[in-house]
Amino acid sequence: MMKLRTVVIPVAGLGTRFLPATKTLPKEMLPVVDKPLIQYAVEEAWAAGMERIVFITGRGKKILEDHFDHSPELEETLTARGKDDLLAEARSTIPAAAGNLLYTRQNRPLGLGHAVWCGRNVVGDEPFAVILPDDLIDTGSEQPVLQQMAHEFEQRQASIVAVMPVDPEQTSKYGIVAPLARDLDTRSEATRCIQVSGLVEKPLAEAAPSNLAVIGRYILMPEIFHYLERRHQGVGGEVQLTDAIAALLERQAVYAYRFRGTRFDCGDKVGFQMANAALSLQRPQIRERLLPFLRELVSKQA
Ligand code: G1P
Repeated sequence: MMKLRTVVIPVAGLGTRFLPATKTLPKEMLPVVDKPLIQYAVEEAWAAGMERIVFITGRGKKILEDHFDHSPELEETLTARGKDDLLAEARSTIPAAAGNLLYTRQNRPLGLGHAVWCGRNVVGDEPFAVILPDDLIDTGSEQPVLQQMAHEFEQRQASIVAVMPVDPEQTSKYGIVAPLARDLDTRSEATRCIQVSGLVEKPLAEAAPSNLAVIGRYILMPEIFHYLERRHQGVGGEVQLTDAIAALLERQAVYAYRFRGTRFDCGDKVGFQMANAALSLQRPQIRERLLPFLRELVSKQA
C-alpha cells in the first residue's frame, strides 16, 4: 500500500493575467476575502494529511516563504495588546512541525510539466499530489478536494486527475480527458471516478474527446518524472503535464475524479471576483453588510 505524503505546489508563474497587481506581488498572495490564495492551497494539503509541501518557486516569490513563518514583531505586538484571536490568525499559517515546507526553484518558465519535474529530487520515488493554487475550490461542508482524491487513491493506487464538466466551447482552456468507457452518464454517482484512455491539452471543441476538464488537483505516480524528463514541447511550446500523463497511461491506469465542489479560476479577474463574492457571503459578519449593498448595486444597474 503506497502512502501519499507529499504535495507539489507550483508558484513560479508570472501572473501576467493579473497585471499590474502582480508586477511585484506574487499572484499567489492575492487575497480571497482575507487569506492569500496560497494559504487555501496549503490548508487543503494539510487537511489531506500531507506531511511535505514542496513549493516550486521563482524570482520574486520570497514573501511566500515569510507568509508561512513566524513574524516576531507582529506576534509580540499582538501579545502585548492581548489580541489573542488576531495572534491565532497570524500563527495559523505556520506548519505544525518545522521543516515540512520545502522550496526549490524553477529557474526558467518552460511550462507546468517542467515546474513539476523540478520537484523530482524532493519528491523521490513515491506517489505525490499537485495543487495549482489558481484553482480555488469551495467544497462547503464536503471534504476539501485533495482529501476526496486521497480516499480514491487509497483504493486505486494509481494516478488520478480532478475533472469537472465544462461547456463544449470552453475546452480550449483546459486539459480534457477521454473516458475509457463510452456513453458514460457523467452525472451519476457511479461514474464519479472513471478510468481514462487519453488526455489532450487545450483542444478546440471539435477535437475534444469529452467535456471533462482537468482542474488543478492531481495525484501522480512517480513514473511521471520519466516522461517529464523528456521535455517534450506541447501546446504553446511548453512542457505540458497533461502530455506526460497521457504518455503514462500507456503503461498504467489513470483515473479522472469528478470532484464535489465549486471551482473558481482565480488566475482570471472575473473568476477571482466571483471567488471573493462567494466566500465573503459565507461569512455571517460580512454577509450582513455586503448583501444589502450588492442588492442595491444590482438594482441600480438594472
Ligand atoms: C493548466 C493545465 C490544464 C488544466 C488547467 C486547470 O493550464 O495545463 O491542463 O486544465 O491548468 O486550471 P493553465 O491554466 O496553466 O493554462
